[in-house]
Amino acid sequence: MSNSLKLKQLLVDIHTHCYLPRYAAFLRSRSIAPKIFTSGDRERLLILDDEPATGRPVGPQYWDRNEKLKFMDTHDIDISIVSTANPWLDFLPPDKAHTLATELNVDLEEYCATSPVVSMPGSHDIKRLYGFGLLPLVPDIPVDAILQVIKQISSLSHLKGVIMGTKAVGKGLDDPSLEPVWEALSAAGLVVFLHPHYGLGSGAKEAWGNRDNGHVLSLALGFPMETTIATTRLILAGVYDRHPDLKILLAHSGGALPQLSSRLASCISHDPVVSSRLQHDARYYVSKLYFDAVNYGPEEMGFVADVIGRGSAYANSQDQRGDRMSGYTRMLFGTDHPFFPPLDGEGRWKSVLENIRAIEGVKGWGEAEKAAVLGGNALELFLQGPM
Ligand code: URA
Ligand code: ZN
Repeated sequence: MSNSLKLKQLLVDIHTHCYLPRYAAFLRSRSIAPKIFTSGDRERLLILDDEPATGRPVGPQYWDRNEKLKFMDTHDIDISIVSTANPWLDFLPPDKAHTLATELNVDLEEYCATSPVVSMPGSHDIKRLYGFGLLPLVPDIPVDAILQVIKQISSLSHLKGVIMGTKAVGKGLDDPSLEPVWEALSAAGLVVFLHPHYGLGSGAKEAWGNRDNGHVLSLALGFPMETTIATTRLILAGVYDRHPDLKILLAHSGGALPQLSSRLASCISHDPVVSSRLQHDARYYVSKLYFDAVNYGPEEMGFVADVIGRGSAYANSQDQRGDRMSGYTRMLFGTDHPFFPPLDGEGRWKSVLENIRAIEGVKGWGEAEKAAVLGGNALELFLQGPM
């Protein structure tokens, strides 16, 4: 990284989505969810199992790169690490998932490689767009097919990681058949962006009741709980003990995991099946994860950082203990664009401003901590290698 890049405060958005034109066209060709359909004079998107059949409005902000750049300009975002939005390829048969993953990764590389450079002296080699690739994570896919795509993504210089749902190849993140996948992702240094899609799944019907609450319950509660459960299962399966260098970035600040990590540790230590399984106290693994700073409140922002930092004290050996105050180094600004647009009008988006203000409002954070979460941490995590 050039020195000048470090000198200027850059705003880097690591949680921002698109449906690439090839993917959007594919959704338009489908008659069942996930699909894009036309209603009146507007296109609409239907992707969630428990969402009203009317879905949500969808438009060029989802697939047009100029709209992404315009949004970035409106919010002074210098760099975005773009990922395909849910439900990725989860619903496809293995052959189709493999073909589409490979094609979409090439499309995303092109989308990023041909983007403008960051306008700043000395930054001629830094683009405004980088990406998370897609893996063909579907039931019955041969593991070699997944490993092949990890190799492809590693060879595409603007792709810095992969986005992954919580089901992986159908059985969740504690599935032993994923071992070679974790191994390959870790060896390649690719960041795994873990993102929800299913909410509470079949449990949602009973949990959410009958009142029409729009998308609020599934997005505010279902999504974060899904991430919480998936990550807990990964921890319980010892994935971090076997792959300590794996870089996993949790959407929506890890859901309820920071709040529940001490309870998790206590439950583990009182459970005869699990108590001797892991090398460390559960809280230590929280300090190994990365968290987006998408939680909309300064108190939540500070709390998550405190819990991440605190976790390093729970390493079982002295030399694995980190700095308790360094939790903020694992938190990274995000927007969730193009989701959560303002209901009325144009201009800057409330959903974006709330997260920026939350980062700026954390008690005890000085300029260095804020700058790190707004962009410095992302530069370290994603753009240290060849660009
Ligand atoms: N709704 C979704 O379906 N996905 C997101 O990432 C955000 C909101
Ligand atoms: Zn998202």
